[in-house]
Amino acid sequence: MKILTIVGARPQFIKASVVSAALQPLCGEVIVHTGQHYDKNMSDVFFEELGIPKPAYNLGVGSGSHGKQTGEMLIRIEEVIGREKPDILMVYGDTNSTLAGALAASKLHIPVAHVEAGLRSYNMRMPEEQNRVLTDHISTWLLCPTQTAVENLAKEGITRGVTMTGDVMLDSVLHFLTVARANPEKSKIYETLGIAPKQYRLATLHRAETTDGGVEAVTRIFRAFEQLPQRVVIPIHPRTRGLAEEAIAKGGFRNIQLIDPVGYLEMLLLTSGASQVLTDSGGLQKEAYFMEVPCVTLRTETEWVETLHGNWNILASLTTEDILDKALHTVPDAAARDSKPFGDGRASEKIAKLLCANA
Ligand code: UD1
Ligand code: UDP
Repeated sequence: MKILTIVGARPQFIKASVVSAALQPLCGEVIVHTGQHYDKNMSDVFFEELGIPKPAYNLGVGSGSHGKQTGEMLIRIEEVIGREKPDILMVYGDTNSTLAGALAASKLHIPVAHVEAGLRSYNMRMPEEQNRVLTDHISTWLLCPTQTAVENLAKEGITRGVTMTGDVMLDSVLHFLTVARANPEKSKIYETLGIAPKQYRLATLHRAETTDGGVEAVTRIFRAFEQLPQRVVIPIHPRTRGLAEEAIAKGGFRNIQLIDPVGYLEMLLLTSGASQVLTDSGGLQKEAYFMEVPCVTLRTETEWVETLHGNWNILASLTTEDILDKALHTVPDAAARDSKPFGDGRASEKIAKLLCANA
């Protein structure tokens, strides 16, 4: 009885850390890393810090255009499936690694389990929306983080195999925030960066819609950051680093502190200590919500609509004025938080029990 798990990008390592821990005592798991993310601070750091079992395979696919990257993964995952003959193939989220894994398995009649099924932005120009819609339609187990996700699938006629498990990222925050706070080495992050809790804002930027606008788009965002009363710390994704450095050099921005991507434990400390988060990341919006840190999402839509209640999260278009307005004038309503829209922090356990009963 065997589950073949496909991971490849930073957020998938974080999700796998809690799901694999729940799964491995119950049934056999073979982890495959596609190699989509490969820098030490985008990949190895998560395996080391979070105790994720070493992948049995690293397919070394690396970066490339969507077609090349997804195609290489498809070829190499198919070979691994042929060798391992799994009972179930599990994928996470909405990256090219997700789609490649699901497609390779589906064509070979291996049932697919999709963790984080049913999310929709209804913007089909997003590569992530294409990946998640296609993956959902070829999955046997659709493991939904929220009730909204269940309803989104029903609108597309998908009701079989759908389970509301809750969000595995809530499990990981609950577990690893405690671990991070107890780790004196990691807690030095504030001192190292010269920041004090609640005296800085935290930002991340990496989505195609942001970077496709080039240095002008990043400059528009940074002009808003420059006018905020607190320093903005940005662990910069490698995709955006060049644009961010160019924007800072040209704009002479002094309120922005670019740093290398950090490990998850340090990221949880940086998020929980921030007075506000500004981001185009899917995962970080939610983590801010879990930790009751107000968030401005630098996008025109979100899949995580529950976070918008009570203005804990607010959308901003990518203009200097809108970002500044939302960042300065949004006041979250402490009484208006949904009760447990992301489950009870035991999603991983539910997924493991469900899949291992079938594997
Ligand atoms: C991918 C996912 C996105 C997810 C994000 C998480 C797709 C289509 N996109 O976006 O949904 O939110 O991961 O972080 O799958 N690079 C490096 N080193 C690395 C990894 C990437 O330098 O270790 C650079 C390369 O220049 C690469 C670029 O970042 O071309 C983009 O990487 P890629 O994996 O294609 O997409 P992400 O933007 O990371
Ligand atoms: N993250 C991290 N270090 C960083 C930036 C982000 O550990 O320097 C974590 C973040 O806390 C969240 C996940 O990476 O758990 C989000 O990944 P990302 O924003 O790359 O992708 P998305 O969630 O948008 O797919």
